Amino acid sequence: SLVDKANYRHFMAKEIHEQPEVVGHTLARYVDMATERVLLPVKLPFDFKNIQRINITACGTASYAGFVAKYWFERFARVPVEVDVASEFRYREAPLRKGDLAIFISQSGETADTLAALRYAKDQGVHTVAVVNVPTSTIARESETVLQTLAGPEIGVASTKAFTCQLMVLANLAIAAGKARGELSDEDETKLVHGLVEIPRLMAAALTTELQIEKLAREIAKSRDVLYLGRGTSFPLALEGALKLKEISYIHAEGYAAGELKHGPIALIDETMPVVVIAPYDRVFEKTVSNMQEVAARGGNIILMTDAKGAEEATIESLVTIVMPDMAAAFTPMVYAVPVQLLAYHTAVVMGTDVDQPRNLAKSVTVE
Ligand code: G6P
Repeated sequence: SLVDKANYRHFMAKEIHEQPEVVGHTLARYVDMATERVLLPVKLPFDFKNIQRINITACGTASYAGFVAKYWFERFARVPVEVDVASEFRYREAPLRKGDLAIFISQSGETADTLAALRYAKDQGVHTVAVVNVPTSTIARESETVLQTLAGPEIGVASTKAFTCQLMVLANLAIAAGKARGELSDEDETKLVHGLVEIPRLMAAALTTELQIEKLAREIAKSRDVLYLGRGTSFPLALEGALKLKEISYIHAEGYAAGELKHGPIALIDETMPVVVIAPYDRVFEKTVSNMQEVAARGGNIILMTDAKGAEEATIESLVTIVMPDMAAAFTPMVYAVPVQLLAYHTAVVMGTDVDQPRNLAKSVTVE
């Protein structure tokens, strides 16, 4: 076949490992590397200054990329963003303002619900941008503007490299929006883009946690439920972590906003349910640590994904700390996606499931 597993046991493993390279390709398509400024490969048919609200719509993993992007657009460009799963958006008759922007994210570009949502948005007279991996797809053809991810063919049903490439495209689009709206200076832009330029190298560094995660996966495989917690952009990544684990290992997992723990899931905490805490040392780190203390106080076992500074500051005994490289706080989801994906992958391998083709799931859902 055109695409093979090279020396990997599964496509998913290959695709996780390809990320520094394909995210780097995607980056190179969206920035001018010499000046470290955003340079979109297409001219947008609208001005971000005139956009009052952005609607982001997608399914599955792509919707979590959109959810991360919401934080970026709101922070860099001060534009309100709504994120929906396509199956809800398409039927709820959401009022859209003519001339506003709707973004659709899809690896395949063929997901039926996302396509229907795109058609609905077009009928409402909003501008449409599709972030897609397959440029010949229906969603790419039908949207006003296409921003391609350069992940290359993704074979594993559970999305990995498409997700991080979607994040790379969306980060650049959010910076472009911030510039156009006068919320970011040239200096802010170069600083942010410089943070993006570092990502491929940091993802490669994140891959070196694999042996540790493989060991950890043997413990996770014994659990019935796993909880993932995060705040800020780590919250959507917690949702993605839980989805990945469910999809391929069939272990029940839930992602939660760390601050919501006390409003429900804390009731479930005991020594049998591992809690994965995604907490880079960013401006919400202290808050997340206090949620982690609540878990520890109830005998919960914590797996902490953080950086050296976070590991030093986190005062609780955690079961395992996965130390990630230091990096610009804004873009941590792209790098922390790596250990999150590896944990799901290795747990599934321990469980002996069909990693690349999990039961009941399809790579692309073209029927409703
Ligand atoms: C399926 C796949 C997921 C994917 C989702 C959206 O459920 O199993 O991995 O995230 O579809 O697919 P899309 O091609 O639109 O990104």
